[in-house]
Amino acid sequence: MQATIAILPGDGIGAEVTREAVKVLRAVETKFGHRFDLPEALIGGAGLDAENDPFPQQTAAICADAAAVLLGAVGGPKWDNVPTESRPEKGLLRLRAALNVFANLRPVAPHPILSGASPIRAELLKGVDIMVVRELTGGIYFGEKSRTQDSATDVCTYTRGEIERVLHIAAKLAAGRRNKVTSVDKSNVLETSRLWREVTTELMQRDYPGMELEHLLVDAAAMHLLSRPADFDVLVTENMFGDILTDEASMLAGSMGMLPSASLNDGSVGLYEPIHGSAPDIAGRNIANPCGTVLSAAMLLRLSLGLDEEAAAIEDAVNRVLSDGLRTGDIARAGESAIGTAEFGSAIAAAVAA
Ligand code: IPM
Ligand code: MG
Repeated sequence: MQATIAILPGDGIGAEVTREAVKVLRAVETKFGHRFDLPEALIGGAGLDAENDPFPQQTAAICADAAAVLLGAVGGPKWDNVPTESRPEKGLLRLRAALNVFANLRPVAPHPILSGASPIRAELLKGVDIMVVRELTGGIYFGEKSRTQDSATDVCTYTRGEIERVLHIAAKLAAGRRNKVTSVDKSNVLETSRLWREVTTELMQRDYPGMELEHLLVDAAAMHLLSRPADFDVLVTENMFGDILTDEASMLAGSMGMLPSASLNDGSVGLYEPIHGSAPDIAGRNIANPCGTVLSAAMLLRLSLGLDEEAAAIEDAVNRVLSDGLRTGDIARAGESAIGTAEFGSAIAAAVAA
């Protein structure tokens, strides 16, 4: 097949990790006889520096023409003091809004071989396989803001429709997994959460009556994710809670660097990015873990292009490389030696080709 995939490296380690994902996509191309056009475009601080816009028009146009978008990361201390509207993160939020990708899938399926890299005891990690579905285009991230010298506001709004569409995605995923949905809110305090819980209860009873539904308050969920992680199947929640809980959940997998994500709308065009940030402290040193981005590329092939076998080939390749004992610094235990980002990416590409 021929497909156009927009590549948006962004800032910090974004360039290093997307470069490895591109290597792996090229290996898939050769092995399976596809043709991928991979136009690159600027986003975040890189866009701001070059075009005075964290989501330049040309980037919007390239993404609009693509079958899917693969993104590295945005942000960094260099842009800490720019006005809110120009911040690198704002570029990413505008991209998510432009693509209308309201459902962000963040699978947390720790590789058993990395259990020693997790701060959580290995026995608790057995059988952990969580699909977090984070609402991505609503809530406090997108509400009105105000700021004076001494006060500030961020408005959090959700509509019934916004809640229902992301719940349908979560429930459909659960139907193909262990048939359980955990909905996370803060309904003891927040009005948006009370609506969230009400809509969830109604919709699940009406449309998915046989499915197990659990409600958790977000503070309790933060604890349960560590005390009984294997009990979760699909966890669905609003934008900000999902952001926070997935950084926490990534520790089950040993490192933030391991986790991919897929952001979906009602169509097939999606945005794929690792859950980690731009990690300015380690940028440019060839030590970042490319797995999150490489595994995001696998999700892209499966969910936007329908290339199941190719996606599985990438996931397999990552597993084999890990089983062979190759590690980047973030997942290496004391005494294990680490290799660089580029070497790790090349090993995955070679495993795909083999
Ligand atoms: C993420 C990131 C982003 C978010 C930032 C960079 C805006 O933390 O994708 O989890 O909060 O959504
Ligand atoms: Mg985050």
